Amino acid sequence: MDAVTLLTNDHDKVRRLFRDFETAEEAEDSARQETIAEQILHELEVHTSIEEEILYPAAGELSEETRKLMLEGVEEHHVVDTLMSEISDLGPDDEAFAAKMTVLIENVEHHAEEEESELFPKLREELGDAALKRLGTELAAAKERHEAGAATDGRSRDELYSLAQERDLPGRSSMTKEELAEALEDQ
Ligand SMILES: [Fe+2]
Ligand SMILES: [Fe+2]
Repeated sequence: MDAVTLLTNDHDKVRRLFRDFETAEEAEDSARQETIAEQILHELEVHTSIEEEILYPAAGELSEETRKLMLEGVEEHHVVDTLMSEISDLGPDDEAFAAKMTVLIENVEHHAEEEESELFPKLREELGDAALKRLGTELAAAKERHEAGAATDGRSRDELYSLAQERDLPGRSSMTKEELAEALEDQ
């Protein structure tokens, strides 16, 4: 899959989650809002990380105009990151939670739309099909790495140990928490 298709699919997935969140909000279903908000934060964290690691540096090597679009993207990610870290500290019953989620959704929708209408067409034009495909492969690998990282983040040694047991990880009983996390991510 080429880089632009992969990232556009990610955008579409997040847009669907935004609509689900709004439906849960209208229904005043706070448990569902919390679950969907967690999914949104997870998807956005992985997506912005792989863009910053792989796509943006590649865009920075291209024309002056593309570099400018990329730099704007970095600043928009920065705003999104700040909102995400504030939201993750709040529960859905907090008064500011819904307001921050609304602003997050507005910001991400604007940013994704700008990438799709300005940055991505530039990448397609300046990189060409083969390079876009190579970048797509790198993005997919980075995505897998981040997903694996997210699965072990914030877990205790006991939790990691049971995960290792489930997956029949060799040598698990003598591993420290960090070694377990690393071995599980590498699996
Ligand atoms: Fe982005
Ligand atoms: Fe994006």
